[in-house]
Amino acid sequence: MAEYERTFADVKKTGGLAGIVAADSAVSTVGIEGRGLSYRGYAIEDLAAHASFEEVAWLLLRGELPSPGELSEYRARLRRLRVPPPFLSEALSQIPAGDSMMGILRTAVSLLGNLEPERGRDTMAVADRLVAVLPSLVLQRLGKSLPDDEETLAGYFLGGMERAHPAEEVRRCLDVSLILYAEHEFNASTFAARVIISTMSDVHSAIAGAIGALAGPLHGGANEEAMRLIEAWPDPDQAEKGVLDRLTRKEKIMGFGHRIYTVSDPRSPVIKEWAYRLAVTPERKRLFAVAERIERVMWDTKKLFPNLDFYSALAYRFCGIPTELYTPMFVLARISGWMAHVMEQRSNNKLIRPISRYTGPEPRMYVPLVVEERR
Ligand code: COA
Repeated sequence: MAEYERTFADVKKTGGLAGIVAADSAVSTVGIEGRGLSYRGYAIEDLAAHASFEEVAWLLLRGELPSPGELSEYRARLRRLRVPPPFLSEALSQIPAGDSMMGILRTAVSLLGNLEPERGRDTMAVADRLVAVLPSLVLQRLGKSLPDDEETLAGYFLGGMERAHPAEEVRRCLDVSLILYAEHEFNASTFAARVIISTMSDVHSAIAGAIGALAGPLHGGANEEAMRLIEAWPDPDQAEKGVLDRLTRKEKIMGFGHRIYTVSDPRSPVIKEWAYRLAVTPERKRLFAVAERIERVMWDTKKLFPNLDFYSALAYRFCGIPTELYTPMFVLARISGWMAHVMEQRSNNKLIRPISRYTGPEPRMYVPLVVEERR
């Protein structure tokens, strides 16, 4: 057993399946010896510096990096698959305004399972369709038109949001963020997808379940909460005081801590650097300074480091993405990792069914109810 795996005795203490190896996987490594992340053997730092999201999605789904020809064919294929079925767009438009985008995406994937059922189709074709179509559904829900001249997901999404060609630096920042969010081993949403697919259920059910799991603030929802935290204070000093108050009240500070990483989250410095690069106005510099002070306070008081969600919040803000879209952006990226895991689970399936430790009443006698007869 590797050193980083915990024993069952530890799990009894910590709960939440912490440290339990649930299956073999060749998709990614997370936090070996408390740090480090690789997708199919490639270090996240290298992918974030040199690759594009489409390359990474191909890598996760097909196991190897694409050749230049394969990449351009893949991009062209995704472009063709972007337009949602009209019935889906129409049905989603009936959902009242104000409902969360995560709820919309969950329903969209479920309905897509009815409109374009997997039956008899190649699972890879379903994966490509989901990677391509989900960004369009978000844009449509926002009442935006769908650009037809953008090759990459980052360009397509930003183009749809701004209705103009986005700056190259902003486009690349979003591309990097999608790479960082694409995959993360057996996190809660991926595990939920694998549990569902392990019953031999369909892909759309697995992905709808994963979206539901991702929505919670202890998982994907943390990036939105981190933004609300950072913008709650006008300057670093007040942020420091506010965070210390919250810690005294035993509140959790979203965007900090991690179940697997114990030393640092390798994705955080990458996205922090991007947030720093885009912090070019006085207002952005102020938000960045507040964030850095929160980072320092969390380290000094709790030895907790920022996870990917913390500085992603600022990076998204500086890319012009509204806060309520931060977790949906996570979906647009993670769909590639989820589908890689769904296919891996299917290729060597075993029903995932753990056991619980019973803490209920001792065996007791059932006494039938006496029903009084009416005279
Ligand atoms: N803020 C304040 N305290 C935190 C904390 C945070 N973000 N994360 C962990 N802690 C503290 C807990 O209060 C607990 O302290 P205690 O032992 O004194 O009670 C201890 O650290 C262990 O935390 P716990 O929640 O049991 O660890 P976990 O492994 O179950 O949780 C997370 C991991 C990610 C759920 C947790 O760190 C968290 O809730 N973070 C905030 C949400 C977030 O950013 N999620 C995105 C993860 S990528």
